[in-house]
Amino acid sequence: MNQAQPDMTEAQPGISGAQPGMSMAQAGMSEAQPRMSMERADIAFKVNGAAVSVCVPPVRRLSSVLRDELHLTGTKVGCDAGDCGACTVLVDGEPICACLMSAASAAGTVVTTVEGLANGRLSALQASFLDHGAAQCGICTPGLLVAATALLDSKPNPTEAETQDALGGVLCRCTGYRKIIAAVMNAGRFASELSTDGAAPNPPAGTFSPY
Ligand code: FES
Ligand code: FES
Repeated sequence: MNQAQPDMTEAQPGISGAQPGMSMAQAGMSEAQPRMSMERADIAFKVNGAAVSVCVPPVRRLSSVLRDELHLTGTKVGCDAGDCGACTVLVDGEPICACLMSAASAAGTVVTTVEGLANGRLSALQASFLDHGAAQCGICTPGLLVAATALLDSKPNPTEAETQDALGGVLCRCTGYRKIIAAVMNAGRFASELSTDGAAPNPPAGTFSPY
């Protein structure tokens, strides 16, 4: 090797010299030079009305923070790519795919997950889903409930087209969507039965059709 072609491995031992199984010191990395994937930050936001703070890598997916750090496993993960909508949550009132949002982007926001929809009892929408038999395997159901909640907040009596449009980002492989659409459009019926704490009464066991 001549001088015009220096041995880059020797010149940059901390990069090209690193091998699996080496310690950080052996690889030429000091504690003062953490790898990007190891860096963490304190990130504070609100979830379902409660202030929370997590110490995670800022690039961590919000869906992972909710499920793995805050144990809010109602938010489902189907694709981790923004395609299925199972991870839909409300961020400042807007439905978003939590798998596409970084923890850093969630700082200072107000997040609502499916766990936040019921106020100790079923919401009117949840009662309507139950009454219509709008869930089968249930993987899509949290995302649908959250997306439909955002719709009903702005349009309490949506048309079928508005409902289809609002739920279009959440895929369901089981139901064929008809019962889901009907449950959302008829949620107002259950809203009229709201109790004083803002939620529909829990249904007596066996009083709702399973289909
Ligand atoms: S898991 Fe987020 S869109 Fe599928
Ligand atoms: S109920 Fe199974 S994917 Fe929707």
